[in-house]
Amino acid sequence: MKITVIGLGYLGATHAVAMAELGHDVIGIEANPQKLADLQNGIVPFYEPGLDEALKNVIAKGNIKFKADHDEESRQADLHFLCVGTPQLPGSYAANTEYLHSAVKALAPYLRQDAVVAGKSTVPVGTSAILTQVLADAAGFAPHLAWNPEFLREGTALEDSLRPDRIVIGVNDEVSEQALRKVYKKILDHGTPFLVTDIPTAELVKVAANSFLATKISFINAMAEIAEVSGADAVALAEAIGYDERIGNKFLRNGIGFGGGCLPKDIRAFMARAQELGVGKAVDFLADVDDVNLRRRARVVDLLNRELGADLSGKRVLVLGAAFKPDSDDLRDSPAIAVAKLIKVTGATVVVHDPISLDHVRAQNPDFVAEQDLALAATGADAVVLATEWAQYREGHIPADLGKVVANKLVIDGRNALKVEKWQQAGWRLIALGRNVEATA
Ligand code: UDX
Repeated sequence: MKITVIGLGYLGATHAVAMAELGHDVIGIEANPQKLADLQNGIVPFYEPGLDEALKNVIAKGNIKFKADHDEESRQADLHFLCVGTPQLPGSYAANTEYLHSAVKALAPYLRQDAVVAGKSTVPVGTSAILTQVLADAAGFAPHLAWNPEFLREGTALEDSLRPDRIVIGVNDEVSEQALRKVYKKILDHGTPFLVTDIPTAELVKVAANSFLATKISFINAMAEIAEVSGADAVALAEAIGYDERIGNKFLRNGIGFGGGCLPKDIRAFMARAQELGVGKAVDFLADVDDVNLRRRARVVDLLNRELGADLSGKRVLVLGAAFKPDSDDLRDSPAIAVAKLIKVTGATVVVHDPISLDHVRAQNPDFVAEQDLALAATGADAVVLATEWAQYREGHIPADLGKVVANKLVIDGRNALKVEKWQQAGWRLIALGRNVEATA
């Protein structure tokens, strides 16, 4: 099929490449000149394992091209995917949907009456109905507009797009359903569950799924708070409850909590939308989910104060990891950066290390010492905080190597990812969130 993908951020760029890999003829539309130039040159403007290679591959095959704006070629497309961002509005919890409005207005002059527009962005329920009106006014006819939420995770984005655990489409008409069945045919032929719903349900699926995931993480983090004052171990607790298949063992890792471009903003936008709909109480609990999440970040500073004293000025703290999770260079709402900022406020010198995102750290947080060389970063540190569990921090001889250069062998494991015994054997005092591992030293 001939398709356009509008908005080439994490979601759109991955989706465009995935669609080209499936054999479709893809036009990617991106307004940001730098991102556009990168993509045209076969460079993915963010870190996503495997995506660069896949992009080069589909460019070489001639299945994909990138443009700043629509032109007559867009009129030939049977299907247009909307993938622009819906960030949190400044000063509010609500999502900003203005980029979607601009995207449909820009598309309208090139939209064929029989073509289908499928929204993939995460939106407040009810957005599609508004966009249908905006598009109808601009195009002069009633458009086929469907909603097709995307569940990809950063770090495994391409794999998640090509082998999703389900595809959900919300449609109002047969034309939209058939177009989406056709575009995903190769994936559906593998037996991937395909759910056809009404549009509000499809819009809700994404925020409901992300709210559930956020709640699961905050649940185990709340248990970690209980564990810390009762001598229990939240990691063992998660394992024990996770064997119950109804609970499951995934998304029960306690630590400094969730971040990134989706979970934090989605739960807030959901609260704002529920308020507007007069049912704010239904998702009041998400405020607690958010609170628990923010408290776990602050817990790291409490522990540093407990170990190093109330006054941290003059102390040097190394934060390992800056991205919101490993295998990503995304700093959006990163718990690691949030923790580093909280430590910085105490007057300590904060050194940040990350395998791939230090350029972003330097650009966005000039207050931190961003050091690429791990041994240099650790030199003279009074404490080390593991904030993002990159494999390189968990493996190899890190405890021995860092032990040689730090001023004080104190490590706070904010992700419960370090091998406790290995660090203890190398002479470190290790404190892990939600656990009482000092007692086992
Ligand atoms: C999430 C959803 O998983 C995905 O389906 C959706 O499409 C977009 O939002 P992503 O933002 O890539 O994906 O990250 P995810 O893997 O969900 O992790 C989110 C955050 O939760 C990270 O900061 C991670 O460190 C944290 N996390 C995850 C925990 O703290 N504990 C866990 O057990 C799992």
